[in-house]
Amino acid sequence: AYDADKVIAIDGPAGSGKSSVSKAVARRLGFGYLDTGAAYRALAWYVLERGGDTADADAVRAAASDLPLRQRLDPDDRRVLVGGTDVTAAIREPRVSAAVSGVARVPEVRVQVNEMFRAVVADAEYPAVVVEGRDITTVVAPDAPVRILLTAAPEVRAARRAGELAGQDAAAVAEALHRRDASDSAVVDFLHAAPGVDVVDSTELDLPQTIDAVLAVIRRRRDAD
Ligand code: DC
Repeated sequence: AYDADKVIAIDGPAGSGKSSVSKAVARRLGFGYLDTGAAYRALAWYVLERGGDTADADAVRAAASDLPLRQRLDPDDRRVLVGGTDVTAAIREPRVSAAVSGVARVPEVRVQVNEMFRAVVADAEYPAVVVEGRDITTVVAPDAPVRILLTAAPEVRAARRAGELAGQDAAAVAEALHRRDASDSAVVDFLHAAPGVDVVDSTELDLPQTIDAVLAVIRRRRDAD
């Protein structure tokens, strides 16, 4: 059965370092890792693949109700499959990034996807699962013993994103990030910590320091239990 004690909840905006940090923490602690954004991306990909429009809530609901999604919890295996298709690279394409907010905006779809995440945690053959997203600390696992909001100044997030997407224009990356923040935060407030959520601000931290800061929160919260 689903048990919130098994969840390490990590939320944050794009470019906060959330994915790299979550994966590293899972690896270090021998925990599973679940990227919930990848599930929303896979759903957006699936709607587009079926020739649907991600702005059409009915098309999104229909796709969500039979999404054959497979995600492993191994932090070293980030493959995402929809049916027999490996969509790991495709879900990072700009056309999917641009479409994903439309998918994430449909309330019934969020409810359904959240059930799926809890089922994945329940079935996980790991002592705990690092679940990263936007609403894990508030909606998916508000009872988790460890809930962290990872933040960073917008300029720093844009610079990190530009670094990841080598070859792309930095100003365009900043603009796309800003646009996505605006549409994402209309759905879920991931820029402010809910009561009881620990904030780790990585603006002035490098990756190893951010990982250490998150591990320190996990130790403190799990020991306090
Ligand atoms: O973290 P990411 O950029 O891969 O997330 C992809 C999209 O999914 C993003 O636009 C926000 C949305 N999302 C969400 O609404 N709730 C989550 N728990 C995770 C992601």
